[in-house]
Amino acid sequence: PALRVDVVTIFPDYLAPLDLSLIGKARADGILEVAVHDLREHAHDRHRSVDDTPYGGGAGMVMKPQPWAEALEAVVAKAGPTERPRLVVPGPGGAPFTQAMARELAQEPWLVFACGRYEGIDERVLDHAREDLGLEVSVVSLGDYVLNGGEVAVLAMVEAVARLVPGVIGNAASLVEESHEDGLLEYPVYTKPDPWRGRAVPEVLLSGNHAAIAAWRHEQRLARTAARRPDLLHPSLGDAGLEVRLAT
Ligand code: ADE
Repeated sequence: PALRVDVVTIFPDYLAPLDLSLIGKARADGILEVAVHDLREHAHDRHRSVDDTPYGGGAGMVMKPQPWAEALEAVVAKAGPTERPRLVVPGPGGAPFTQAMARELAQEPWLVFACGRYEGIDERVLDHAREDLGLEVSVVSLGDYVLNGGEVAVLAMVEAVARLVPGVIGNAASLVEESHEDGLLEYPVYTKPDPWRGRAVPEVLLSGNHAAIAAWRHEQRLARTAARRPDLLHPSLGDAGLEVRLAT
């Protein structure tokens, strides 16, 4: 396969959507290989427990290092002597997942996703993966909000990455004019009928004037980006730009 993906989770069923649609087709075509592993298979006590209370106190539970170390070792054991997967750990405290990161991950031959639950995974697991297993480890956040665990984030990331792998999307041209590929949001789109419930399609799109259509679409992209994502036009605004937009 062009890309191999392993996912370790305590909820393998959560990843069932990876059997569907374009991802499922790419797997059937042999472009993509996906294996989902149950962390609990590496929990050996009577209750197969994977979490415990945090040192230092505080709310919630922390995922124990031993099941994680064994699970990651079992995945890495399937590697050739020089093959090393990149380990991606989803979490709200990670670096932002962006289209640029999706492009970067799509270049890798092998990705392992470690889905944390509760308050997170014992930090020594990441150190072990980096220092003892020799993996490049990236903690990655889908956005500034909190999910219950990494599983939904992995679905989003695998979809964003896999569609960039050659052959997964039949029409590669559909990848270039998308939002976030060149820093502007996408222009609005319309299809038949015209009019629909009294609403007309913008006239320029019916004109057959390709230069005028391209110019109109570019203006729409700029206006939309200014209205919804001023931070993309003025990176120095950062989140402050978004706050201004939300306040007005
Ligand atoms: N796990 C919990 N919250 C998350 C987020 N925002 N992004 C990625 N993984 C998460």
